[in-house]
Amino acid sequence: MSAPPDIPAVQTVDLSRVYGSMVALSSLNLTINRGDLFGFIGSNGAGKTTTLRILATFLTPSSGRAEVLGYDVVRDADRVRHLIGYMPDFFGVYKDMEVTEYLDFFGACYKIPTAQREKTVADVLELVGLSEKKGSLIGSLSRGMQQRLGLARVLIHDPQLLLLDEPASGLDPRARIEMMAILQELQRMGKTIIISSHILSELQTLCNRCCIIERGKLIYSGPIKGAQTQLADVRAFWVRVGSPLVTARDLLAARPETYSVEVTDDRLKVVLANSSSDPSYIPETLVNAGVRLLEFREDEIGLEEVFLRVTKGETQ
Ligand SMILES: Nc1ncnc2c1ncn2[C@@H]1O[C@H](COP(=O)(O)OP(=O)(O)O)[C@@H](O)[C@H]1O
Ligand SMILES: [Mg+2]
Repeated sequence: MSAPPDIPAVQTVDLSRVYGSMVALSSLNLTINRGDLFGFIGSNGAGKTTTLRILATFLTPSSGRAEVLGYDVVRDADRVRHLIGYMPDFFGVYKDMEVTEYLDFFGACYKIPTAQREKTVADVLELVGLSEKKGSLIGSLSRGMQQRLGLARVLIHDPQLLLLDEPASGLDPRARIEMMAILQELQRMGKTIIISSHILSELQTLCNRCCIIERGKLIYSGPIKGAQTQLADVRAFWVRVGSPLVTARDLLAARPETYSVEVTDDRLKVVLANSSSDPSYIPETLVNAGVRLLEFREDEIGLEEVFLRVTKGETQ
């Protein structure tokens, strides 16, 4: 079942959810394109799990709507369930089951014919690097392996969209890197992946697009890189020159586009007065004054820093 190419993987329109008087999700308007490895970022209580559970058809919206590959998560819930693989933020209690038995059980739930199931189970185990553990008890696996088994389970019916709720939480750095490598492989295979996290740095290099939510409200949606410039509203550049730094500093400080120039060990940090102005005045000013330019690059503002600025005073 494949949808026309112009239909997004996920679209929400004024999606809201309340628990009693508590507004967990407030008019979320979000579009996620097919093929994205999409970071769903927010601190604890922001509404990530609520959103993913609605997309997974486990929770109904209080108002607004959500579509997965063009299908409404309430009206067409059965269809949606076959299109998605949802990995919750906790691991089920199947510790006394063997790995193969467990996956075979879920394969049966999705009505994969018995004859085909053995190969399907072997395929997904291979994909997550657990082929050698197929006879092991789940309880004997490391946390990282259990998380990868959870991923194998949501892949068993070959879904187009993966909804992964904090899959890397509690993993050691090595297990986290292994998990990220598998997700990149799945993206290459054409899957759309939504991965939630409150640890921003782990998504920064993994995802192509992201959104940031805080207290149920969307703060940003777009490219991960864009989040940094658009939200931080500060652009800074590093400059190294073949002349005395103070000469370059005075030249740049005299320009109206400059907010500040700071001399560090061997270079200058130039902050723009307006983040939307063209930074090319920096090399131009220096070169026109006969200063040799050795290095000119933008200061990468980390997502963590962006997030802190954006949500300042907003967290509970
Ligand atoms: N079943 C529930 N009953 C009442 N409040 C809930 C329930 N589930 C979540 N909440 C509240 O809704 C808000 C969003 O929660 P959640 O979606 O789990 O956030 P996240 O996954 O980003 O940490 C939180 O304030 C949380 O306490
Ligand atoms: Mg959560």
